[in-house]
Amino acid sequence: MERIDKLLSATGRWSRKEVKELVRQGRVLAGGRVVLRPEEKGDPAALCLTVDGVPVDCSPFVYVMLNKPEGVLSATEDGQQPTVLDLLPPELRQRGLFPVGRLDKDTTGLLLLTDDGDLAHRLLSPRKHVDKVYLARVDGVVVSEDIEALAAGLTLADGTRCLPAGLKPLADGRSCLVTLREGKYHQVKRMLAARGKPVRALHRLSMGPLTLDGELKPGKWRFLTLQERTELQRLDCAT
Ligand code: URA
Repeated sequence: MERIDKLLSATGRWSRKEVKELVRQGRVLAGGRVVLRPEEKGDPAALCLTVDGVPVDCSPFVYVMLNKPEGVLSATEDGQQPTVLDLLPPELRQRGLFPVGRLDKDTTGLLLLTDDGDLAHRLLSPRKHVDKVYLARVDGVVVSEDIEALAAGLTLADGTRCLPAGLKPLADGRSCLVTLREGKYHQVKRMLAARGKPVRALHRLSMGPLTLDGELKPGKWRFLTLQERTELQRLDCAT
């Protein structure tokens, strides 16, 4: 059994003081019943807490979706250059969040940050084959031979063997969707360069069941919804 104020403040969304105020205003429900005192206790797995009607994920870990902008490093710290952690408020930075996988400095789009090492490890494991979808703007026109070459699994000039990948040209003639099941260094750029189509801009749209929220402007973040977290966890257990 855990105190409700402790559970809510452990999510990183509200301070203990703010939780007190939410309870006082009658905005916190447990299993559909208004919580009357912040110190009420319950089983975290069975409480079904909501705030303003929105289900709250009482996992002890924090999961953040970021729309990574250009020019920041996918790292937790760097002596000189800004990192994705610099885009989060101090209370989240202090929790020891880290990016799940890396995007290049000039790549934009979906990045998951968490302090859940187990989930991160499993999502990144090549054996899990979690699809990542990228939108790439390229020089040149993608042709069916390119699609077939990626589908067969490219071998790069340095001998790196890539798993089969998806390639879908878009109607504008300059962009394509690339689907990878792994995350080798500069992989999209190197694969498309190997096909004579240098990448001019790269943006990640999705990672497994997680899709970048179209409302998030570059540099902005939000917590995962309970549903997004549950889907990630499900995928995590599935294989
Ligand atoms: N592939 C790349 O080339 N760069 C990224 O940032 C991600 C995938």
